[in-house]
Amino acid sequence: MGYRFKLIGYPISHSLSPWIHKEFLDKSKIQGTYTMHEIKPTDSFEESMILLKNEQIDGFNITVPYKQDVIPHLDILDDTAKAMGAVNTVVNQDGKWVGYNTDGIGYLRSLESKYPELLRDKEIRVLLLGAGGAARAIYFALATANFKNIDIANRTKSSAEVIAGNSSQPRSTNILSLEEAEQILGKYDLIIQTTSVGMKPNEDQTIISPDRIKKNAIVSDIVYQPLETKFLREAAERGAKTHHGHTMLLYQALYAFEIWTNKKIIIDDLEIKLKALLEGR
Ligand code: ATR
Repeated sequence: MGYRFKLIGYPISHSLSPWIHKEFLDKSKIQGTYTMHEIKPTDSFEESMILLKNEQIDGFNITVPYKQDVIPHLDILDDTAKAMGAVNTVVNQDGKWVGYNTDGIGYLRSLESKYPELLRDKEIRVLLLGAGGAARAIYFALATANFKNIDIANRTKSSAEVIAGNSSQPRSTNILSLEEAEQILGKYDLIIQTTSVGMKPNEDQTIISPDRIKKNAIVSDIVYQPLETKFLREAAERGAKTHHGHTMLLYQALYAFEIWTNKKIIIDDLEIKLKALLEGR
């Protein structure tokens, strides 16, 4: 019968995860299915979890709005998921549900696949723009990988303070307003845009102006629709190197697939295929 995986969330009809995991299954020549399991806000989440446990599937991804709600239903929580307070991947280990969060590590691996040399230098100056769930996951992954200088700029400074305050490793983190960040942008080697600003249908928006960006800085945007945001385009025009959001999708899914199957997959042509899929949307 092969592996059985699912995606749980609401709404999920536009999710790219089924496409990505089908590609992984094909690529690794593993028999299996990855199907949608929508839980509507009017459905009982508790009952859905009981039914799912009875199905004894091998693993599932869990997305909005249930990344926290699933936690009481797990038997074991890995350290990253514990620190995030959110789970996006569950594996069935001999009947026990183990929860992971692949967002931050997936992001870091996608960045590393494009700029391996950059991530070896832990002294680089990093700026995160935004302080939501994605920023939290990326901050934690960077901090765990021992990056020493990670600043956070956000419209609401207090949310950025919470992210920095939750981290146990000692490091220097400055909390900035977006206006302050814009003024001193030239001091950063890596700038990561973690909010939805610039996403379709608001492609004409940028969270800050990239005018003062340092030439050769790396600018990353987690938005993948459009494939290249205005922020990335303007940064590239000023000599920055870019990193696109769709690769994060692939590597988060890859890490989940590895947790479920213990198989390593090489992304190679999948990135081009995913780009073509997104361009057609
Ligand atoms: P997610 O969990 O997907 O990261 P989120 O928790 O809603 O999403 O976080 C959204 C982030 O985008 C926040 O940092 C938010 O800033 P605030 O904390 O001030 O709300 C930021 N954000 C959203 N829209 C924004 C906008 N128009 N300008 C600036 N920041 C914005």
